[in-house]
Amino acid sequence: MKKQLIAGNWKMNGSSQSNVALVSALAAGAANAQCQIAVCVPAPYLGQVQSLVAGTRIDLGAQDVSQHESGAFTGEVSATMLREFSTRYCLVGHSERRQYHGETDAVVAVKAQRALAAGITPIVCVGETLAEREAGRTEEVVKRQLAAVIHTNGHCISEIVVAYEPVWAIGTGKTASPEEAQQVHAVLRAQLQAATAHADRVLILYGGSMNAANAAQLLSQQDIDGGLVGGASLKAADFLTIIAAAR
Ligand code: PGA
Repeated sequence: MKKQLIAGNWKMNGSSQSNVALVSALAAGAANAQCQIAVCVPAPYLGQVQSLVAGTRIDLGAQDVSQHESGAFTGEVSATMLREFSTRYCLVGHSERRQYHGETDAVVAVKAQRALAAGITPIVCVGETLAEREAGRTEEVVKRQLAAVIHTNGHCISEIVVAYEPVWAIGTGKTASPEEAQQVHAVLRAQLQAATAHADRVLILYGGSMNAANAAQLLSQQDIDGGLVGGASLKAADFLTIIAAAR
C-alpha cells in the first residue's frame, strides 16, 4: 500500500534559529514514523534545512517555483536551482499564490511542468472559495484547476501530488468535514483515472486547518492520502501528532 504523505507548509515563517529547533524536534520525534514527511520552507532556508534533514525521515520541499527556466526574472527561483538543494517537493498553485500573485490555472500548470522536468514532485493545490462552495460550484472549480495541469503534463500526471485545500478552510480553523473532503477527493481521483492508468498511485492530500485533533479522522478517509499542514506544522508536538495519525 502507498504511504501517506504529511507535508508542512511553513509559509513565510521561520528563522535560522527557530528552524534548527523545529527540524531537530521533528527528526527525533518522527524517526519511526510510518508515513512520508516533508517540510516546505521559504527559499532562503533551503540550504540550511537541506543540512538539517539530511539522514532523517524528512524530505525537503519548496513553496513555489518560477514558470520560467532562467533569465531576466528578478526575484524568481527556478526549478533547477531548487534541485541543487535536493528539493524533493514543490508546492504549486497554493491559493495564496493564486490570490495574491495572480497565478492562473495555465501558469500553475507550467510551474508543475518545470518542477517535473527538474525531477521535483509538484504538490498541485486546488480548492474552491467560500462563495464558490455556497454557489454549488466546488466540483467545477477543482476540476477546472486540475484539468489545466493534466492538459499540460500529459502522461507525467501520475508523478504529481494533488492537495485539495478549500480556501475557506485555510488558516481559519474551519475544516472540511471528513465526508466533505472525501467527496471532493473522490471527484479528483476519478478525474485522474480518466487521464492515467496510474491514478491510484497519485497521492491526494487534504489541507485547510488540519490539526492534531482532526487529523486522524481526515486521514482515515479512503481517498485522503495525507495532509498539507500550515499552522500546525510550525509546532513540533502538533505536527508529530499528525504524523503519528498517518499510515
Ligand atoms: P493551515 O494552512 O493548515 O494553516 O490552514 C494550510 C495551507 O495553506 O497549506
